[in-house]
Amino acid sequence: MERILASQLLQHVDKTVRLRGWLNNLRPLGKLNFLILRDRTGLVQVVISDKQELQKILHLAPGTVLTVTGKVSASSQAELGVEVVSPTIDVEVAINNPPPIEYYKPEIPSQLEFILDHRAMSLRNRELQAIFKIQAALVHAYRLFMVNEVGAVEYFAPNLIGASSEGGAEFFSVDYFGYQATLAQSSQLYKQIMVGVNERVFALMPFFRAEPSHTTRHLTEGKQFEFEMGFFDHWHEVLDVQERCIKLMIQYVKEHCQEELKTLKTPFVSAPMDVAIPRLTFKEAQEIFFQRTGIDERNEPDLSPAAERELCTYAQEKFGCDLVFVIDWLASKRPFYAYPKEDNSELTNTFDLLCAGTEITSGGQRRHTYESMLEGIKLKEMDPQDFEDYLSIFKYGMPPHGGFGMGLERLTMTLLRLKNIRETSLFPSDTKRIASSRIKAKLFFGSESVRNEIIRKLRDNEMEYRHLSHDPTPTSEDSARVRGTKLEEGIKSLILKGKSTKKNYQFNVPSHLKIDMKAVQELTGEKCEFESPDVILECFGLNVGGVPPFGDLLRLETFFDEQIKLLNQVAFNCGMPTESIIMKGQDLITLVQPKFGSFSKN
Ligand code: 4AD
Ligand code: MG
Repeated sequence: MERILASQLLQHVDKTVRLRGWLNNLRPLGKLNFLILRDRTGLVQVVISDKQELQKILHLAPGTVLTVTGKVSASSQAELGVEVVSPTIDVEVAINNPPPIEYYKPEIPSQLEFILDHRAMSLRNRELQAIFKIQAALVHAYRLFMVNEVGAVEYFAPNLIGASSEGGAEFFSVDYFGYQATLAQSSQLYKQIMVGVNERVFALMPFFRAEPSHTTRHLTEGKQFEFEMGFFDHWHEVLDVQERCIKLMIQYVKEHCQEELKTLKTPFVSAPMDVAIPRLTFKEAQEIFFQRTGIDERNEPDLSPAAERELCTYAQEKFGCDLVFVIDWLASKRPFYAYPKEDNSELTNTFDLLCAGTEITSGGQRRHTYESMLEGIKLKEMDPQDFEDYLSIFKYGMPPHGGFGMGLERLTMTLLRLKNIRETSLFPSDTKRIASSRIKAKLFFGSESVRNEIIRKLRDNEMEYRHLSHDPTPTSEDSARVRGTKLEEGIKSLILKGKSTKKNYQFNVPSHLKIDMKAVQELTGEKCEFESPDVILECFGLNVGGVPPFGDLLRLETFFDEQIKLLNQVAFNCGMPTESIIMKGQDLITLVQPKFGSFSKN
């Protein structure tokens, strides 16, 4: 029998159908039991009255993959208006353990951080699924508009590039075979190059921003709808394209994503087709903010987040439109390529589009002669040599041109009135996460980086310490002598290797004691041996004699012998055999947070 989807059930009332999907949840009520089955189109209610059928799944967890064959019956109670009764159930993949997050509830009853910690699972939730289906529809609508109405050609630009495309410090450098490469902040330079080829071009391009601030509207990786056009009579034609583009995208989502919008229950942003999105100059915008709030930011070079919110409220109140353009921004706040106004070079032919309180787009006219572009680069104290390819297009003929970059995540967030931009990225990266996973403790490599990190920690925590330089000390007795400390105050830090897991551990004992390998085996659950000095040098950049008791910096599972707890003062090599640190024993424990055990002997 052919597989039928949840969305098709209404067309099969009173017929027997075969469904496939995941067990979403099960409500066993005794006589009547409700299985909610999830497929790519929705949730189906399956009513089980047969005990034997129920037994097949009673002990199974959400995520179990099922085939259900049963009769479709009209039901006023069921969400779809139909349910499936008298089912025969086949378990395809049995899952016995419940998932770590309750994604199968209508709304996940967890905070965003926990939802992000379990992103792969949480995305199975219907609300989250709706967000990303709408996002996909936005992308589709953008492509339809650009191809069918604008006649633009899609381009695919590199993400690994030589120089910053937007200026400023917000870019990531990557080690590229020993050279420095940059992750593109936008495809700005490439879309301008492509105007020289196809006049009108568009793309959906990844961007990377080393944005150190943790806000509800910044990501370090995202996507931009990019657009660029040549040969306009007035630069406001770029705004015209943006305006029609966003209105059609909103209309498309309203038409094609009714189910998803219903699931999310949010009042969608309004941008009526017959209302022109207001276009305020930057100066006017500042004045309106001042008039409405009494907060005077009229001498600021930028709009504050509060001003952005207020301007959208203003547009909604006055025009019934949640969007507003702000044009003619100060050159000091725009990138090198922004076109200076002919009558006032302090201002530029640039715009931002604000939606429901937040900037979603920046764009404008670009400098298009070689001399002007060179001037723009120099004014921002950038190096023309970094822009050779790009500069050549102006040397060999560019028409007046301009375009915009509209953030996909910003757009999704504002249209759906979500609170945090992280909700609109499948696997968000920010200052605390890479692709939704929490950034692991930093790994330090090499004696200097390890020493510097130890000292940084001591200073940050305002702990007392002494840092000494001395000749290399072959024995613990020598060390105690040059440091002027007692032998038992020295810490011996040993890197071991598990014989079966090949994993490295760090064990720390007072210098006058030896390590008991039997006790080590009990703690780790495997036989261990000393890691070879060559491997320690290669993996951690440390000489055996310089390893400090900060195994955490090397991402090692770290153990302290119980005896260390008794020491008021401790001393150890801080990354190199010629430098030592003396500090309080308790402070060391506070910083390292080791595991404890008894694994020393005389
Ligand atoms: O305002 P931005 O930096 O402008 C540009 O990249 C230009 N090349 C655009 C142009 O054609 N002149 O970025 C454009 C948009 C922003 O308005 C915002 O929607 C999004 O990209 N964006 C970010 N979204 C989330 N997190 C970040 N860190 C973002 N940086 C930019
Ligand atoms: Mg901007």
